[in-house]
Amino acid sequence: MANETTLVILGASGDLTSRLLLPALGQLLTMEPHRRVRLRGAGMDEWDDARWRDTVREAFASAGFEKAFAAIAETTYQRADITDADDLARLIAGAGDNVALYFAVPPAVAAAACEALADVTLPEGTVLALEKPFGIDEASARRLNATLARLVPEEQVFRIDHFLGRSTTLNMLGVRFANRVFAPVWSAEHIESVVVRFDETLGLEGRAGYYDRAGALIDMIQSHLLQVMAVLAMEPPSTLHERDFRDATAAVLRATHVWQDDPVTASRRARYTAGKVGERQLPSYVDEPGVDASRDTETLAEVTCEVRNDRWRGVPFTLRSGKALAGKDGEVVVTFRPVNHVPDGLTGAAPGAVLRFSLGPDRMDLELNVNGGDDPFELERALLEADLGEGALKAYGEVLSGILDADATLAVRGDAAEQSWRIVDPVLAAWRAGDVPLDEYPAGSLGPEHWQKLP
Ligand code: BG6
Repeated sequence: MANETTLVILGASGDLTSRLLLPALGQLLTMEPHRRVRLRGAGMDEWDDARWRDTVREAFASAGFEKAFAAIAETTYQRADITDADDLARLIAGAGDNVALYFAVPPAVAAAACEALADVTLPEGTVLALEKPFGIDEASARRLNATLARLVPEEQVFRIDHFLGRSTTLNMLGVRFANRVFAPVWSAEHIESVVVRFDETLGLEGRAGYYDRAGALIDMIQSHLLQVMAVLAMEPPSTLHERDFRDATAAVLRATHVWQDDPVTASRRARYTAGKVGERQLPSYVDEPGVDASRDTETLAEVTCEVRNDRWRGVPFTLRSGKALAGKDGEVVVTFRPVNHVPDGLTGAAPGAVLRFSLGPDRMDLELNVNGGDDPFELERALLEADLGEGALKAYGEVLSGILDADATLAVRGDAAEQSWRIVDPVLAAWRAGDVPLDEYPAGSLGPEHWQKLP
């Protein structure tokens, strides 16, 4: 795509736009000054161009990118009902050939807008960008995909998953595919278990309207963590270009199932009660404004999966994420099997090596058995640490750069979105049937005390 794109943000006055999208755009335009963007905002609010311009300028400034504002060729706002075909047509009118429609609105509104778009003539190459969740189960994900397929080719649909834009997720590619010390041992023969964990200290943060219907399983595991897992487990692709990369990650998801097909033993869920996270006192989740306690929404979820192929059969992949926990802890932990035999004469335990990729900040470490400290025949653990530096673009900037270039490599493909639901649907069903207890943990703790600790 040429360097001038009309980015139409639907839901321009919303929180996502000012908190994430605009700062990311500011960063992108600062780092890649050749880009030219026309920025059209649209929403139900009675804003005028000046108000929109102020919003953009302030969002850029708050992220330290005030100068980027000058790179925007047009900043206009239109009041619009984005589920109305005439309003949508007006928004696109005169936008030129390179148009990206970014739906920064709740999924149901985005789906309705896509239905309406069927009656609008879209410029060739129009890109559609949608936020998760993509559906509420496999069947609805399929319906949404069918609607989208009537509008534009799949390569022009950007299902956003900013974890794919994280430099930390991407770091796994180099380590895996560019090192002979890892490539040959990346399989069930040498790896015992994998954990993908994303523990947060944040509580609900006023997001009950969305989160109370999603919960940790849908908010994090169904989307982000399965994608991270797919990058870790994919077969080496020939290139990292869109088709090869997305074929390889989708193949992992197609092979993934809940451990032993038993969602009851393979999953756990819990919800936080009142407690202190650092200096902040959090109320019980059920006392947060807007929460309906009868929904039994979990704020901590764990699911163990298996990737049923020759490379991974038998290796548990445990995905876990929760809110209001003691510390922020996002990482992928790869635990290798111990060696078959330690020579007699070396003393001490020799557990398998552990490789950890942090999911931000950008670092990795490798825990190994070494000897030669005080006693040259006694084994001890040593840690090799690497600080990988800041990714140049923040995750949303990476995502936006793909959208402006119409390069969907880091977007979730439709079949992958369906597969992610296919994997978690049985867990959701078991939870809704009450087959898995909803445990509790005090905010600021490590989770329910009786849960077995993960590596
Ligand atoms: C979002 C989830 O997609 O990712 C949030 O909806 C979560 O609940 C967030 O907090 C985590 O990502 P980041 O980049 O904000 O750490």
